[in-house]
Amino acid sequence: MADVPAGQAARERELTEIVVASFASTSDPRLRLLMESLTRHLHAFLREVRLTEAEWKQAIGFLTEVGHMTDSQRQEFILLSDVLGASMQTISMNNEAYANATEATVLGPFFVAGAPEIRQGGDIAAGASGEPCWVEGAVTGTDGVPVPGARIDVWEADAAGQYDVQYGGDRTAARGHLFTDDHGRYGFWGLTPTPYPIPHDGPVGKLLEAVGRSPMRASHLHFKVSADGKRTLVTHIFVRGDELLSHDAVFGVRESLVMDFERHPAARPTPDGRELGDRPWSSVRFDIVLAPAAGRRLKQA
Ligand SMILES: [Fe+2]
Repeated sequence: MADVPAGQAARERELTEIVVASFASTSDPRLRLLMESLTRHLHAFLREVRLTEAEWKQAIGFLTEVGHMTDSQRQEFILLSDVLGASMQTISMNNEAYANATEATVLGPFFVAGAPEIRQGGDIAAGASGEPCWVEGAVTGTDGVPVPGARIDVWEADAAGQYDVQYGGDRTAARGHLFTDDHGRYGFWGLTPTPYPIPHDGPVGKLLEAVGRSPMRASHLHFKVSADGKRTLVTHIFVRGDELLSHDAVFGVRESLVMDFERHPAARPTPDGRELGDRPWSSVRFDIVLAPAAGRRLKQA
């Protein structure tokens, strides 16, 4: 902003302060802080880039398109937040590392509350395409004590990279929930995760194209784990060796969440004796450590 004449710069600063002051009588102090800070940062951005009126119009048009694209099945605003890293930054701030607790990552736009319950050892696929994957582990607290009765929601894309909510209609597939047993253990059949693009036929996809970024997400399986007295964990597990780990479209990868998926030929017996015929399969172990509900403090900086 070095080339902005002093008088002009003073007028710009004055406007920012007038707008900030307009929030002075906000009764909710948190809302006041959010609006004042948003105003300061937004004005600083506008002034830093010397936004043109044509760019302002384009930005309004873009956000309008994001709104029009959004409905009960498609959340373009979450996608926008995700590709800007705003989702991951918010999650990082609100789920500080606590002792050895499993790390959190983005929820994404495809979680559906009320997915069907499956029994221990059950199959979430419900006909979704993909290679069977045996997933097992235990849920414990940071003290190592098993957590029986923890609710585990899991959901994932099929082999074509589609979630059930993208099929059209109301079919449920590749999602479900189960509860840990008396020893905190769980096991179920899912699908070996495969890479998929975030929906990129809308304005967020056009933005990614304009900036030369890929819409691809690293292969993953989503988890949401909740139990009494524990901080609810929203996370994924990723597949070691996936070439997309280093440039996930939504910045969701954490090294601690990259797991070894073991590949097995068709003939190899499965852990629960399930007959898979001529289908190869995979297996992964994911032990989950839940922080206490009040455990928000960093153990190590
Ligand atoms: Fe996903």
